[in-house]
Amino acid sequence: MSIRIQPSILSADFVNLERDFATISTADGIHVDVMDGHFVPNLTFGTGMVKRMQEITTLPLDVHLMIENPDHWAPKYAELGVFSVTVHFEACVDPVAISKTIRALGSRVGISIKPNTSVEILKELVDHFDQVLIMSVEPGFGGQSFIEDSLAKITATRNLIKAKGLDTWLQVDGGIDVNTIVRAASAGADTFVAGSSVFASADRAATIAQLRDSALKAVNN
Ligand code: DX5
Ligand code: ZN
Repeated sequence: MSIRIQPSILSADFVNLERDFATISTADGIHVDVMDGHFVPNLTFGTGMVKRMQEITTLPLDVHLMIENPDHWAPKYAELGVFSVTVHFEACVDPVAISKTIRALGSRVGISIKPNTSVEILKELVDHFDQVLIMSVEPGFGGQSFIEDSLAKITATRNLIKAKGLDTWLQVDGGIDVNTIVRAASAGADTFVAGSSVFASADRAATIAQLRDSALKAVNN
């Protein structure tokens, strides 16, 4: 199984993003948290900033939309040519229609569920998505503790993906560090978002390598 490490720039320095991007060049992608102050009680940035990010890096941008009305907004991010766009199930009117639109625009598409949303909803939807994101904290802020109940949701989702014979990426976001990544990888995640643990590190490349090694050891056990 491939392991992907995606630092979340929510913990980066927003006025020095180009400099901070250079410090995470060994990552597999950059996780870009878009928050609207409505779907979550925090605000980050919109399409203008993401357009500039896309221009200054060759790393794939993985856009996580924590916003209301993704049916309207998600295509605007795909139009920028980002690698992937993930929407929240809780905010979508028609997730399947969003998936079709995003794929037609050439980006991968993900569906995310918050900690209190059941994995049951994925049974009908998973076939339409390239990535499932299990939130392991309540979305909105970096630096929160990993919710251990997420592990059972990751395992259930991995089993669903296997049972259907899909190659959907299984992403986990929130409270991921060198310890929690081991449990998340053992439970079946393959794509890991890490914000504060990477950006608080004095040697970000070393931390990214440690995260990767820990996850690889867990899946090979
Ligand atoms: C939280 C965001 C995360 C956040 C993770 O709502 O979706 O991507 O940056 O931060 P850490 O890794 O610090 O929990
Ligand atoms: Zn995120």
